[in-house]
Amino acid sequence: MRFPSVSLIVALPMLATAVPHARSSTGIPLMKHSSLHNVDGSVNLDAVKLHMATTERKFQPEPSAYAKNLGRSFPLAKRTNGSDGLTDGGNVLWYGEISVGTPPATFTVDFDTGSSDLFLAGPKCGSTCSGHKIFNPNASSTSKDLGQTFNATYGEGNAFGELYTDVVTVAGYTVTNQTFIVAEQYGEAFSNQSFPPDGLMGLAFQALSGYDSPPVFLNMIAQNAVPKPVFAFKLAESGPELLFGGINTDLYQGNITYTPVTQEAYWQIYIDGVGANGQQLVTNISGIVDTGTTLLTGDATNVAKFYDAFGATSLGGGLYSLPCASFPNASVEIGGRSFALSSETFNLGPISSGSPDCVGGLVANDGLNGLWILGDVFLMNTYTIFDVGNSRMGFADLA
Ligand SMILES: *[C@@H]1O[C@H](CO)[C@@H](O)[C@H](O)[C@H]1NC(C)=O
Ligand SMILES: *[C@@H]1O[C@H](CO)[C@@H](O)[C@H](O)[C@H]1NC(C)=O
Ligand SMILES: *[C@@H]1O[C@H](CO)[C@@H](O)[C@H](O)[C@H]1NC(C)=O
Ligand SMILES: *[C@@H]1O[C@H](CO)[C@@H](O)[C@H](O)[C@H]1NC(C)=O
Ligand SMILES: *[C@@H]1O[C@H](CO)[C@@H](O)[C@H](O)[C@H]1NC(C)=O
Ligand SMILES: *[C@@H]1O[C@H](CO)[C@@H](O)[C@H](O)[C@H]1NC(C)=O
Ligand SMILES: *[C@@H]1O[C@H](CO)[C@@H](O)[C@H](O)[C@H]1NC(C)=O
Ligand SMILES: *[C@@H]1O[C@H](CO)[C@@H](O)[C@H](O)[C@H]1NC(C)=O
Repeated sequence: MRFPSVSLIVALPMLATAVPHARSSTGIPLMKHSSLHNVDGSVNLDAVKLHMATTERKFQPEPSAYAKNLGRSFPLAKRTNGSDGLTDGGNVLWYGEISVGTPPATFTVDFDTGSSDLFLAGPKCGSTCSGHKIFNPNASSTSKDLGQTFNATYGEGNAFGELYTDVVTVAGYTVTNQTFIVAEQYGEAFSNQSFPPDGLMGLAFQALSGYDSPPVFLNMIAQNAVPKPVFAFKLAESGPELLFGGINTDLYQGNITYTPVTQEAYWQIYIDGVGANGQQLVTNISGIVDTGTTLLTGDATNVAKFYDAFGATSLGGGLYSLPCASFPNASVEIGGRSFALSSETFNLGPISSGSPDCVGGLVANDGLNGLWILGDVFLMNTYTIFDVGNSRMGFADLA
């Protein structure tokens, strides 16, 4: 099946290499959870629409943290009109193991480059956290209660609880004094059925931290806990991996193309263009690289321009379909280089079981003020490097 609802994939074993940028720690094998397809492989259009709504909400609340932390408003944010009670956002989750506390206890967390805070389920959480492993700060000799509560809101839900600091280890790298939420309430979107991991770790910048503390990776850099201020993702059905502190040279081929981070809040970059079959159809856009979003999302005018070039049918709600047999070969140009999107990622699958028409992985969302979101549909085609030290992002072809 192309899009299993849950798949468990183990990364390749680490190999010793002598190349200059060889990784210096073991990558974290990732697991994937996504729920946009029916069991027969056709697209669950309602789930896709839900996902689009949660994506829109995800990129609304955080800018208020940005404004609070940096004392100016987030230039691309547009305030909209609140929640509508949707729950499972169908957002893709790439999750893996970390350990927390002394003695260390292991937990799984969703690694999300579209947010900056960390939360785990706590002992006072009760039924809303059932099915998730509980972090008990009283069982950790290094935990410290900060005596404050915080309610973290995401596109799909919230996690409310007490702020603590403790030791956190990711892939063998340990950071002390890491602030996180020990939850007393999970929103429905984080219930065990919709959200298999125990908690969530944000990998964006501190400007987006709701409680305004350094996110785990930035704290690691500040404490000199990682060999290099870089982390990198391979998000693919086969061997997905997150590496902290370096780049895994086994997972890409050819050159890495870098582009500057244009704003350190989300991982925001300039995108030269989006096109298909060798034609550039959209140019001069800005985008956010988000491991927690499934689709490639763009503004309605440009997305329509893209699909009009192929006579696509609008399905409403920002979705389009094309004959499955003649899907365009879409590409995204970044840093002067064109990255092809495979048909496995760009073609989401038939509209319904057996239909000759398929849904495109580029969708329109006008709630994001022209900002594009590079989610899985793009990220599953590249090895993606988040270079904090040089404030840039790198993209390379998968090996
Ligand atoms: C929010 O949207 C709903 C429906 O779209 C509308 O009825 C309501 O008036 C809006 N509320 C605000 C505060 O704009
Ligand atoms: C998942 O949560 C529900 C309540 O939300 C609970 O009934 C169920 O037992 C939980 N599953 C597991 C495996 O704990
Ligand atoms: C930890 O223990 C203290 C003292 O017994 C108690 O007041 C507190 O509620 C406990 N915290 C948690 C998260 O269970
Ligand atoms: C946290 O925020 C969510 C969503 O805004 C809300 O539903 C929930 O009641 C809040 N929880 C607390 C304890 O404030
Ligand atoms: C712990 O981290 C906080 C920021 O999250 C910082 O203000 C504080 O100084 C740190 N404490 C120590 C002992 O490093
Ligand atoms: C990689 O970059 C080098 C130097 O810029 C260039 O000569 C070479 O053609 C590039 N290789 C590929 C596969 O793009
Ligand atoms: C898309 O790419 C494939 C493989 O390179 C090629 O066979 C096909 O003709 C291309 N389709 C179009 C419409 O260009
Ligand atoms: C690119 O877009 C920005 C903002 O949307 C705009 O200010 C600028 O003029 C555009 N540049 C070109 C060359 O179209």
